[in-house]
Amino acid sequence: MPSFAAKLIAWQKRHGRHDLPWQGTRDPYPIWVSEVMLQQTQVATVIPYYRRLLARFPSVESLAQAPLDEVLTLWSGLGYYSRARNLHRAARIIRGEHGGKFPPRFNDVVALPGIGRSTAAAICAFAFGERRAILDGNVKRVLTRYYGVRGYPGDKRVEESLWRKAESLLPKQHVAAYTQGLMDLGAAVCTRRQPRCSSCPLATGCVAHGRGLTGRIPAPRPKKALPHRQTVMLVLQHAGEVLLEKRPAAGIWGGLWCFPEAAPDDDVGKICAQRFGASVGAAQSLPVLEHGFTHFRLSIRPQRLRVVRLAPRAAEPGHVWLTIEEAKSAAVPTPVKRILASL
Ligand code: ADE
Repeated sequence: MPSFAAKLIAWQKRHGRHDLPWQGTRDPYPIWVSEVMLQQTQVATVIPYYRRLLARFPSVESLAQAPLDEVLTLWSGLGYYSRARNLHRAARIIRGEHGGKFPPRFNDVVALPGIGRSTAAAICAFAFGERRAILDGNVKRVLTRYYGVRGYPGDKRVEESLWRKAESLLPKQHVAAYTQGLMDLGAAVCTRRQPRCSSCPLATGCVAHGRGLTGRIPAPRPKKALPHRQTVMLVLQHAGEVLLEKRPAAGIWGGLWCFPEAAPDDDVGKICAQRFGASVGAAQSLPVLEHGFTHFRLSIRPQRLRVVRLAPRAAEPGHVWLTIEEAKSAAVPTPVKRILASL
């Protein structure tokens, strides 16, 4: 009987993906960028961002030289911006500590910011042919189903046992094809809902399939209601321009440009006068936006405010007036982009 790995490698050759823009190279730099972008985002979404970032920054050196703002601008809309900040920080570490060359050793790779054990393993497998196990969300789904693991895969103990399983399955050769096969199978066949078990090369050995448990495995995250926060975004408009404010580096959307915020029960007229020297007309409520973060939900109530008089003073540091078109191409998070599009 062919092994798990042999079946997967044979399947990958015929049915896996071979034409993704970061395939066909062993240069760790583009592989690293793609793996970071793919951490929480699907292939189809990533591709245009990946192309733009590589066209602008074709090397670690060019990325290290760039101002963070420019990296964030290219990342704008992809979400999880700490990935972009870590990518940039890592490029500078590579320049400072590894002579500008992406380090070829797993221990140095996994020590870089934004690169966890699974991402480091994927980079080392694809770029250096190293024999390393990956365990991202898709792979957890494949393995919990294959072995019939009932526990929640985010649980520490379950996760540790999945790492051991992932390592025990590694083939002696063709680790890159095997690794790509696991990713492709998780994305295209062993999907969360309605897995295509009739097309799966591993179905005969799969416990969840055999026992009709694919709907229950992997177990969902134990329910814990996410906290729900509310904010008001002040959409100040004056002479065809909107006011944006740079967020502090720490916290959500760190370093991105946003509309100024207020608390739900603040007096927005007073805030505009005090903080921006702006006398505003009556607020117009725009539709509420809901945004999900890992640790909380955020309801955003945008208030459109026409500025009738602006105190003649320079914009304070960290504030800019931009045309709507300029604002759309700045480093702004998705909800701000949506509001701009609705103006
Ligand atoms: N998800 C994470 N890494 C990937 C890769 N290299 N190809 C396709 N999907 C992925």
